[in-house]
Amino acid sequence: MEFNKSYTQYWESAIQKSVDGTVIAGLNEADHFLSPLGLSYSDRILDLGCSTGRMSGVLTRYSKAVYGAEPDSYAVSKALAQPYQEVRQGTAEATGYPDGFFDFVFCWAVFDVVDHVDGLSEINRILKEGCHFLITCKADSYDLEDVLAFKAEKNAFLKGFPNKFTNLAQLCRQIGIFGFELTDLVTFPHRGDMGLLNYKRQPIGECPHEAVIEGYEYLMVAKKISTPGGLQKDFSAPLDGRFSATAKTLAMRAGHASVKEYFESIGID
Ligand SMILES: C[S@@+](CC[C@H](N)C(=O)[O-])C[C@H]1O[C@@H](n2cnc3c(N)ncnc32)[C@H](O)[C@@H]1O
Repeated sequence: MEFNKSYTQYWESAIQKSVDGTVIAGLNEADHFLSPLGLSYSDRILDLGCSTGRMSGVLTRYSKAVYGAEPDSYAVSKALAQPYQEVRQGTAEATGYPDGFFDFVFCWAVFDVVDHVDGLSEINRILKEGCHFLITCKADSYDLEDVLAFKAEKNAFLKGFPNKFTNLAQLCRQIGIFGFELTDLVTFPHRGDMGLLNYKRQPIGECPHEAVIEGYEYLMVAKKISTPGGLQKDFSAPLDGRFSATAKTLAMRAGHASVKEYFESIGID
């Protein structure tokens, strides 16, 4: 699927009214997580995957220097009407901004279409040392009983929407490889919980290798740390997958050889 005008128009309507009645997290929810971060009004902030600029309304409360990056040219043209310093046509994997340019990278409802390794490497490149990013994304181990989450995953797949689910425990274990230290991690247990600010704060620390972190969505804040030898590119296990671990379990339990086969047997509803 292409990120173009028709996707942007779909997103503009979805934020007014989601397809399944869940509340889409927006400015108030972002504000809740931005306010404790101690941002300074002179900080350069990047709204990564800014679409038409919905989040500029909250980000400009924290900084007079908010920038945007967005792949869709139609969305960029609309975002330019918002109070950004500049909006570049770019992606999370290749933003087009210089090294060490930003004091904070904000990436809301975007990382689930971003290649995690390339995206985290690019965020590391454009951030100053000691500065933070905040991302939100979908986790791959949601509750087996979360019918809305399952339906959203299935329908998105059958409609050809891109989707990536993060192996969250794996990301926590590997975050240092990308030159970051985790400073906050919250999970939203079920689909819709993010818009209701119903979340669980996860302990930050050594994540055991067999650990699974449950939740449908998550919000992560991490700080760029010094990596004197440069970033390693030795990633021991995939960080993201096309299908959630939950869908794989449900497909197996239903006797299907693959998630694709299972989803196709149910169809879009
Ligand atoms: C669900 S919308 C979220 C937009 C905005 N952050 C918000 O919360 O309103 C996802 C956005 O990510 C953009 N996008 C798609 N692929 C991207 C990529 N690889 N890097 C950055 N943004 C991307 C899409 O064009 C779209 O504008």
